[in-house]
Amino acid sequence: MSNRTFTMIKPDAVKAGNIGNILQMINAAGFRIAAMKYLSISKTQAEKFYEVHAERPFYGELTEFMSSGPIVAAILEKENAVADFRKLIGATNPANAEEGTIRKAYAKSMGENAVHGSDSDENAAIEGSFFFSGLEQF
Ligand code: CMP
Repeated sequence: MSNRTFTMIKPDAVKAGNIGNILQMINAAGFRIAAMKYLSISKTQAEKFYEVHAERPFYGELTEFMSSGPIVAAILEKENAVADFRKLIGATNPANAEEGTIRKAYAKSMGENAVHGSDSDENAAIEGSFFFSGLEQF
């Protein structure tokens, strides 16, 4: 089991001024920041990142949204990082997210759901290396 996961604070949460609040929740849950960037990605880069969802009906909406403004990308470290971070962020649909989760506090909808979290160790490594070189990870 890997001890790292990858996250993005999405454009909705950045626009709403919630970067600090979300990082606070991440730190309070015991994650160490191994890499971090504040940047915006193009539609083409978003399409590449979310390639696994290319056949889904929401792919266009998702990639449009993810390239609509700046995001915070980060690699987070903690024992059991992938599973524990998914617990911290809560369900993809904020209507189903439990109290105390990031999405319960800050997500607006299924599409504009404040944060991304990797769904497996394998994807955490792929997604982390999409944004960060080895020299940018600590
Ligand atoms: P994320 O964890 O970033 O991974 C894929 C994203 O697709 C997911 O969060 C949602 O934001 C988005 N998504 C999933 N289902 C839908 C949907 N039905 N409509 C719009 N966006 C969706």
